[in-house]
Amino acid sequence: MTLERLDDAAAVERWSRTRRAARRTLGFVPTMGALHEGHLTLVRRALESEGVCAVSIFVNPLQFDDSADLARYPRDFERDAELLERAGASLVFTGTLASFFGTDDPKRVEREVPGPAARVLEGASRPGHFDGVATIVRRLFELVRPTRAFFGEKDFQQTLVVRSVAERLGFPAIEVVPTVREPDGLALSSRNARLDAAGRERALALSRGLFAARAAWRAGERVAAPLAALLRAPLDAAALDVEYAVVRDPERFIEVPAPDGALERARALVAAFVDAPGGRVRLIDTLELSSTPSPSGTP
Ligand code: PAF
Repeated sequence: MTLERLDDAAAVERWSRTRRAARRTLGFVPTMGALHEGHLTLVRRALESEGVCAVSIFVNPLQFDDSADLARYPRDFERDAELLERAGASLVFTGTLASFFGTDDPKRVEREVPGPAARVLEGASRPGHFDGVATIVRRLFELVRPTRAFFGEKDFQQTLVVRSVAERLGFPAIEVVPTVREPDGLALSSRNARLDAAGRERALALSRGLFAARAAWRAGERVAAPLAALLRAPLDAAALDVEYAVVRDPERFIEVPAPDGALERARALVAAFVDAPGGRVRLIDTLELSSTPSPSGTP
């Protein structure tokens, strides 16, 4: 199937209206480009589930609190479009702030309220980040009107924010797809491209900590503090600048677990800066500390 490329919001609305008239389902994968196997897994899952997949590529200035981070975000539209064509997507579209919101001044864009999950962790570290995510995601959902949208588990807190946007709109269904990892455990991320060999080695501390916490959960540990200490140890050993390394009940996400209370369910979440040649890189990762064995091939 040939990939259609659009860069105009009105044309995207027309495309999606025609698609929806021809068939009832439409899958959607919103991205900021610099695509990797994690994004392509979302596209394949969208095709499997909905038969047709539209993808947006927009490095959304509304969700960056650090202008240097925004400027450094990797961009390669031609490469991304080729990957999407090979994966079988039907549409890729881009746009500008002005084309999506009628103004190129971020301060004049009316912000979506992102819901309670946005207050903690990523939301506390990156003020305004989730307002920006919720605002663009709502606009993209309104343009594409997908039946189902697909998001990666690595951005777990983002999936909570996006679910609350979809609940308010009444569509689409949200599907969270498991994180894709390198064989050594590193979660795929567009930001990994900025790491040199030494930085990449140190970045492995994130997944090492997560796997250590999960091993302890499987061995019977249920208290957040010792699980979080295991999560944190490899990060400290690699001398990373840690923003948070916590264990939370995913259904009571904004609550800090009681110091000695046993958790029924747990998710470990981490954010840390890794030094890199063009300026330090902020990485996040997360893992459900479930008792189910990992699929073969994952650490
Ligand atoms: O996860 C991302 O790439 C972005 O936050 C998203 C969902 C595309 C919104 O800009």
